[in-house]
Amino acid sequence: MKAIIAEQYGPPEILQLREVDRPVPKAGEVLVKVHATTVNRTDCGILWGKPFIVRFFTGLTKPKRPIPGTDFAGEVVALGKGVEHLQVGERVFSFEDNVLSSHAEYLTIAAEKVRTIPENIDFEQAAASVEGAHYAFNFINKVPLQSGQRVLVNGATGAIGSAALQFLKHLGVEVTAVCNTKNIELIRSLGADRVIDYEKEDFTQDDQQYHFVFDAVGKSTFGKCRRLLLPGGVYISSELGPGAQNPFLALLTPWFGKKKVAFPLPVDIPRSLRFIRELLESGAFRPVIDRRYRLEEIAEAYRYVASGQKTGNVIIVVGQEE
Ligand SMILES: NC(=O)c1ccc[n+]([C@@H]2O[C@H](COP(=O)([O-])OP(=O)(O)OC[C@H]3O[C@@H](n4cnc5c(N)ncnc54)[C@H](OP(=O)(O)O)[C@@H]3O)[C@@H](O)[C@H]2O)c1
Repeated sequence: MKAIIAEQYGPPEILQLREVDRPVPKAGEVLVKVHATTVNRTDCGILWGKPFIVRFFTGLTKPKRPIPGTDFAGEVVALGKGVEHLQVGERVFSFEDNVLSSHAEYLTIAAEKVRTIPENIDFEQAAASVEGAHYAFNFINKVPLQSGQRVLVNGATGAIGSAALQFLKHLGVEVTAVCNTKNIELIRSLGADRVIDYEKEDFTQDDQQYHFVFDAVGKSTFGKCRRLLLPGGVYISSELGPGAQNPFLALLTPWFGKKKVAFPLPVDIPRSLRFIRELLESGAFRPVIDRRYRLEEIAEAYRYVASGQKTGNVIIVVGQEE
């Protein structure tokens, strides 16, 4: 089968397309023919091995799993011993931040880690529904959201931000979304109640106050966003922040004052997948797809995603939908 190989950490130039043996499912696993996967910001962190902490999970000096890729949508083509709840031919998807080796034509995965794709969703949509949406769900999970509350989402055009915006609207929250001029219509179509164009206005100077501020691109700081929070309000960022301050602020701020920082530790992927699947099926969540590349063009996809300018998700088309 065709697979992308990264034998060391480094820039996209190290990636090679090779013919390798198709994996064989062990007991409890399924063999999946990958139809679509993405290149996402998690993949970029793993490719470069940065921040260094990533390597504690993916391999200290070189990648433990040389085929990269953290998400996929595809079709079950063989069952390992003891797999009873899935059938050959079922359409499935999943995500794993410690690498699934999905940048390949086939992969094996524990059957319990996959979810079936709802009938109304195609392979590309399913692949685009997991990485950013998992992190977005973990923002939402971290705070006691109630219908009618006000939330500001910075970076609403990213994979995390565009999913967070739709999840918040599903929960009945009033959302102010921050994006660039070219994406205002897109962000409105995802349900934003109010849009701040960051090319024209500094959102940290907004005169409204919010129950929660979600910085989905990690470009702000608690210090700058503090004035935006109502008493009892919470700030969450997708990044560690300057000097890796956000995890420390999450420990300290609950003890001082009425505004605090929360830092999501997105560990429960099965819970995220259950939530995402439900919203895909009901139509409450439609992932944003920016562009598509073929497996052979994956280095270009990594370069684009690492630029930090994608809108939603970048798809790698591996096989054609039948
Ligand atoms: N904590 C975790 O476990 C975790 C996991 C995955 C990702 N991350 C981090 O989360 C962040 C977001 O990831 P993502 O995949 O959602 O991002 P992304 O898709 O790379 O998107 C970034 C988006 O943000 C917009 N943007 C860039 N600069 C901005 C600014 N100053 N203000 C507002 N919007 C801006 C970009 O639009 P334009 O440039 O076109 O304006 C682009 O649409 C990344 O920094 C990533 O490293 C964290």
